[in-house]
Amino acid sequence: MRVLKTTTIFLLLALHMLTSCTQAKQTPQSQDEKMEWWREARFGMFVHWGLYSIAAGEWNGEVNTGYGQEWIQYHKSIPTAEYERVLRPQFNPKANFATEWAKLAKEAGCRYVVLTSKHHDGFSLHDSKVSDYSAMNFVGRDLIKEFVEACRKEGLKVGLYHSVIDWHHPHAYTGGGLPSIKGESNEGRNHDKYVEYLHNQVDELISNYGDIDILWWDYSSKELQGDAWRATELLAKVKQKQPWIIMNNRLFANIQTGGTSAEGFDLSQGDYITPEQRIPATGIDGVDWETCMTMNNTWGYSKHDHDWKSTETLIRNLIDAASKGGNYLLNVGPEPDGTIPAASIERMREIGRWMQVNGESIYATQANPFDETTWGRCTQKKQGENKTRLYLHVYDFPEDGILNINHNIKVHKAVYLAGNEDVVFTQDDNNVTLTLDENKIDKYATVLALDVEM
Ligand code: GLC
Repeated sequence: MRVLKTTTIFLLLALHMLTSCTQAKQTPQSQDEKMEWWREARFGMFVHWGLYSIAAGEWNGEVNTGYGQEWIQYHKSIPTAEYERVLRPQFNPKANFATEWAKLAKEAGCRYVVLTSKHHDGFSLHDSKVSDYSAMNFVGRDLIKEFVEACRKEGLKVGLYHSVIDWHHPHAYTGGGLPSIKGESNEGRNHDKYVEYLHNQVDELISNYGDIDILWWDYSSKELQGDAWRATELLAKVKQKQPWIIMNNRLFANIQTGGTSAEGFDLSQGDYITPEQRIPATGIDGVDWETCMTMNNTWGYSKHDHDWKSTETLIRNLIDAASKGGNYLLNVGPEPDGTIPAASIERMREIGRWMQVNGESIYATQANPFDETTWGRCTQKKQGENKTRLYLHVYDFPEDGILNINHNIKVHKAVYLAGNEDVVFTQDDNNVTLTLDENKIDKYATVLALDVEM
């Protein structure tokens, strides 16, 4: 009898585990359901790191002045064998680099991290069975595994940036509007073989690390879009294995043109658009978008680039993106061993301090409902019909302390988000006058939360 009871309990338990497991794996019911966490996240950390980080912005003692140090092989026309010969012996990631990244991202208030699993130079950070040009082969470590585990531990969503350009693969097509290494030709190349390889590597990435939350493709050309990568098939395969995965549209879009507008975009090409280094003046209506941006002038590490954006600029970029309904993916370019540059750490921590207090005005907010906000930016959270919580991010603190909001809104309550203390205000039909206390100034952005009817 007792044995029977134990067996029944065990079976019920097993059944429960099985159903909750399949529940978690169910296909999202809608695009909205799939995108929910991403839309709420608003802030992510981008990481560009690979062999190029070792070059650190110079080759043979010559500083690379071309855009993006992850492109150094291209800018300096370095033959693949030479690039590998010089950099391989120096590749030695420190233990725990991934934990440091994940902790910093968390501290900054990021909700997701996107790492270059393979950049244009073709070097894979994961354990690839179809390539020798991988971290596993060079240093016996699966760096993607380390990364994914570290992010999950901090409760962060995990993204992988994967390049379709590949300067290393002997069959990758050169030309077609894509940048290729000078002197390399298409002779003897069979692009199909490369595409096969690309599909296989992507399959490894989505099969061996559990749920991958984002696949961040980079990048196609006008001439070669879509079919050159069997992109429709590739996306279908990815979605089948990972129905919740969120992907950008760069397999189809040329970043220069397709990266900034919704023209020609549909969901068969990916879930969102990725303007690079700029926040679209009025957002991109009706689509999900994410601006990615560097903290200095390069994605991959350079020891020569000290042109850091100020924390004020970074925080205001984040606010700006949120106020236009988009996400902000802020890049760090770790040093050769994986150490994030001190200047980046400092800024991320400072952003984190601001987010600790003001995060409510960023996460899960929607775009500014007003036309013009001369004093700063505005985000909102709808709270039922006609009711909303407005977040006014005041940049230019009025000298006399008087802030006029000329909109037809009825304010029920106004507080400083920091400390939740009341803001004194008066109102009539078309105007709200807030009397601000200069002791409450936040040097990056003072946030006022207004519960209103509108
Ligand atoms: C571009 C560049 C690249 C960088 C990326 C980030 O496509 O090629 O180096 O990784 O954009 O958006």
